[in-house]
Amino acid sequence: MSQTLIKNIGLLVTNNSEIGGTPLGLIENGALLIEHGKVKWVGASESAPSAEKIVDASGKCVIPGFVDSHNHLIFAGDRSNEFAARMNGQKYEAGGIAYTVELTRKASDSDLLSNARRLQHEALHSGTTTIEIKSGYGLTVKDEARSLSIAKQLSDETTFLGAHVVPSEFKGKADDYVDLVCGQMLAEVKPHAKWIDVFCDRGAFTTEQARKVLKAGIAAGLLPRLHANQLEQGDGIALGVELDAASVDHVSYFNNSDIEKLAKSRTVATLLPGAEFSTRSNYPDARKLIEAGVTVALAADCNPGSSYTTNMPLMNALAVHEMFMTPAQALWSSTKGGAQALRRDDVGHLSVGANADFVILKESSYIHLAYRPGVNLIDEVWQHGAKI
Ligand code: NIG
Ligand code: FE
Repeated sequence: MSQTLIKNIGLLVTNNSEIGGTPLGLIENGALLIEHGKVKWVGASESAPSAEKIVDASGKCVIPGFVDSHNHLIFAGDRSNEFAARMNGQKYEAGGIAYTVELTRKASDSDLLSNARRLQHEALHSGTTTIEIKSGYGLTVKDEARSLSIAKQLSDETTFLGAHVVPSEFKGKADDYVDLVCGQMLAEVKPHAKWIDVFCDRGAFTTEQARKVLKAGIAAGLLPRLHANQLEQGDGIALGVELDAASVDHVSYFNNSDIEKLAKSRTVATLLPGAEFSTRSNYPDARKLIEAGVTVALAADCNPGSSYTTNMPLMNALAVHEMFMTPAQALWSSTKGGAQALRRDDVGHLSVGANADFVILKESSYIHLAYRPGVNLIDEVWQHGAKI
């Protein structure tokens, strides 16, 4: 039985709040024993058991692997020209999605798979050990089904986002498209999807349409989450809480009633600062949500339109610099918060029995993720107990 001991860890973040009195569960000079891909023991280095393999992490910080709960990886092409136009003053609207849909429909399965694999690889090497992947650039029965069967080859966290936008062939017939999503499309994608999602916002779907889509998904055995209030204040957050969605995502706009509802619920608010960054939009005040008792997650929202990055260290830096989070809150939100947004208790923390998914940073503290923005601080990434 092969055991590995990571020892002399300068600062170990366990996210076990029973340790050390803060949510991050910090241990100075800590150690982590791994067996069969799981955490077998965790504690102070001086009392660590012996193991066949020893990894010395002196002077380094070990954190749980990032749990990135919101990404659109199944697409073809890019939208760099749209990005450049936006940086030249054009406003972001969801309309650019149609261009990616056109290219995605034309792409082969193997091209879609290799593009998504490339992005997943990129994410993994920046510390993301759990990644959620959505469909949403197919928008036909066939293209949504193949998008999800490709996503399923890469992750168990797969999300059906047939209701991303109304495709051009259904222009002026949004309700007919919603019926297709809730009927034949849902039936075809169901074997490959865990989650049902909908883009409830200006230029996408109304609250009523979103409710219909989510309820159909729930009836088919999928779990609800949704894109809400990215572009304007709406009822998407209230809808998410009403349906006990695991997460409402973006949440760039919210009012006091939204905050109260979220705080009383188990629905996580997943903030996507990459989207604000890449669309030059106003960032939501994450601190306000956290202080009101809302559980906040951070995710990269990798997609070719509003946030073409897989980099969770960047999300940490943006959340701290632009959304008033502390470095500790940002790290928690991108690990344990992400796990809660996916209703997972086996990832996002390093307690006994958790998946041995972790990152060894080159620096002595997680604070450096925000303090040294843009610098590659990833020394090693371990997934299921093996160094990648
Ligand atoms: O999460 N908001 C909707 N969907 C994506 C953007 C998709 C695109 O622009 O291609 C998002 O930001
Ligand atoms: Fe998204």
